[in-house]
Amino acid sequence: MYLPNDEKRLYEQAKALINNSIAPTADVAEQLREAIRYADWKYYIHSNPVLSDYEYDTLFKHLKDLEAQNPNWVTPDSPTQRVANGLSERFPAVRHLVPMLSLDNTYNAEDLRDWDRRCRELAGTDSITYCIEPKYDGASVSVIYDDDHLSRGATRGDGVMGEDVTINVRQIRAIPLSATLAAYGVKQIEIRGEIVIHKKVFEEYNRKRIEGGLEPLANPRNAASGTLRILDPAEVRKRGLNAILYSISDYTLLPGATKPSVLNTHYDSLKWLYDMGYPSPAPDMKVCTHIDDVIAYCAEFEGRRDDLPFEVDGLVIKVNDFALQEQMGMTSHHPRWAVAYKFKARQATSKLRRVEFQVGRVGSVTPVAKIDPVPIGGVTVTSISLFNEDVIREKDLRIGDTVLVERAGDVIPYIVKPLTELRTGTEEMIVFPTECPACNSQLEKQQDEAAWRCINATCPVQVVERIIHFASKDAMDIRSLGSSNVQKFHDRGLLPDIPGIYHINWDEVRKMEGFGEKSVTNLQQAIDNSKKQPLNRVIFGLGIRYVGETTAKTLASAVTHISDFYDWNVEKLATLQDVGPKVATSVADFFARPQNRDMIAKLEAAGVNLTNEHKSQNATDGTLAGKSFLFTGTLSQLKRSDAEALVEARGGSILSGVSSKLHYLVVGEDAGSKLEKAKKLGTVNILTEQDFITLAGI
Ligand code: IVH
Repeated sequence: MYLPNDEKRLYEQAKALINNSIAPTADVAEQLREAIRYADWKYYIHSNPVLSDYEYDTLFKHLKDLEAQNPNWVTPDSPTQRVANGLSERFPAVRHLVPMLSLDNTYNAEDLRDWDRRCRELAGTDSITYCIEPKYDGASVSVIYDDDHLSRGATRGDGVMGEDVTINVRQIRAIPLSATLAAYGVKQIEIRGEIVIHKKVFEEYNRKRIEGGLEPLANPRNAASGTLRILDPAEVRKRGLNAILYSISDYTLLPGATKPSVLNTHYDSLKWLYDMGYPSPAPDMKVCTHIDDVIAYCAEFEGRRDDLPFEVDGLVIKVNDFALQEQMGMTSHHPRWAVAYKFKARQATSKLRRVEFQVGRVGSVTPVAKIDPVPIGGVTVTSISLFNEDVIREKDLRIGDTVLVERAGDVIPYIVKPLTELRTGTEEMIVFPTECPACNSQLEKQQDEAAWRCINATCPVQVVERIIHFASKDAMDIRSLGSSNVQKFHDRGLLPDIPGIYHINWDEVRKMEGFGEKSVTNLQQAIDNSKKQPLNRVIFGLGIRYVGETTAKTLASAVTHISDFYDWNVEKLATLQDVGPKVATSVADFFARPQNRDMIAKLEAAGVNLTNEHKSQNATDGTLAGKSFLFTGTLSQLKRSDAEALVEARGGSILSGVSSKLHYLVVGEDAGSKLEKAKKLGTVNILTEQDFITLAGI
């Protein structure tokens, strides 16, 4: 689509638009559109991005700003229009080779016995072999392989027509892009299955959404089906979907080939798929020859449904023999040779009695619904987070409402909706507070955020929450310094802040009820051990907004000492893997605040490890140890991020601007003001790219 010369031109155009100031002309708007389209093409079609996320976002923001100020410059094919229409842009409709039917449901042993009776009548025999497999709770999908290659992936749609989501299906690593089907004489095959999301992945995803002020998704099923239909394949890839392929619905053979015997029964066909590398349920399947065994297995399996990594809402029982399946046929709704055995629902209704407002460690105020206790999936639910005010308004929740509550597996409970038809007229609106429930300071709401926030840094609840987070298992892992002890110590003035953990007055603690010598020694030991925790745990423990465990690891591995971040600006932070502008801004903001630097200094003084051992080892024997570098202009032989990583790997550091602290300025093509400034200063060594390569010994 683009010739090499076009590519060079567009790449340079993009870079210039990122680095230079933007003239508000229609021409520049068109240049921005061209550059973004080119970047999209490289990213989506060639999986070979030419811009960092930060650079891409910068271009996009420039274009959005220009178009907002001059609406008549907007063209229908502008990249901003694609996003504005969001999810409404449709995937092409495709016809399924064979209609995707549903399943008939059974709920108890009696239903199953009825079904078995009907099967035996239709089959004209009493000896039927059944296969039992989990009923995965996700989004159904059909995948087609032609000549050994994945050629199409489609959603169920209305069962006859689905949406062509091949581009997204290709992002699911469980689904092979090719397989050795021809070796068995198979030319084309359509396989049906379910796109699922691991409960762990789902919880982590929701945790991040909550951290980012978004409402979590209700259950893994919604997450899977929503993800399959989003328009950004890179995002699909990030969300880590999984898949289970549970039936072969159609196939054609190569000319002259004979049908392989594995295609005679359901079990053999799934085992065959599994052995070829497909994610089939073969390892979780059970084969039974009598309905009593089927019933016993269903009961036993229901008892351990939570042990599976995916959400499972029942079992599916299928007649094993394909010839028999054909003989039994189907209704317009479901096959007669298969049935679902549904587990007990994970939904229940209860009354919403009141809403409490809780302050979190970053100051956001979360409404929490208090409902009449109700058992769901083996757990009694009494409290349900409502996340933010928008959720309350969108759902139109009121005190006194009967609410439908869902709890999928070990996943957090969630209010699906109020049952408005049961309202009596006595229900009351939920009033959101204007003041912090903990310290009474005025709550504030940032423009693009859903949460009301208490911005008082000394708000006692936030302070306690921050200490609890720092000591928690995934952060510094200080056993026995859990929420109750933190609260007790804080209330007695023994633990005013995070560094205070390392200066607790133990004589005072010993005077407290329940703190014998043994528990004090254990606590002291645990606190002492925490000083040796790796840097990523410290960074996670600091509770920087939007910085979860993964981002903390990324951050920790980018520096030799935590204070290196004092020199990192937003742009530099955004060059790190998976760090977007929002996270970068939050991190930069955190390290710029004097009270946070003060806290870090106190931690260091207390002996807490703040270095990245791996990096600092490199640093001591590094050839560039102690030297600071800055790159400017376009490099021709090295990628800037690689060059910077190289400096750091050799013990040097990267500065964000020209100052007297800078040792070397490496100058690429079209270097601008930084070069001028360095020349003026006269203390900076100016290197060409080649000089740098020689110096670094590459
Ligand atoms: S067999 C023609 N097997 O359950 C046979 N379906 O109402 C149709 N499902 O949307 C399906 N796990 O996506 C089959 N092991 C399994 C399944 C399964 C989940 C879904 C399927 C469909 C729904 C049936």
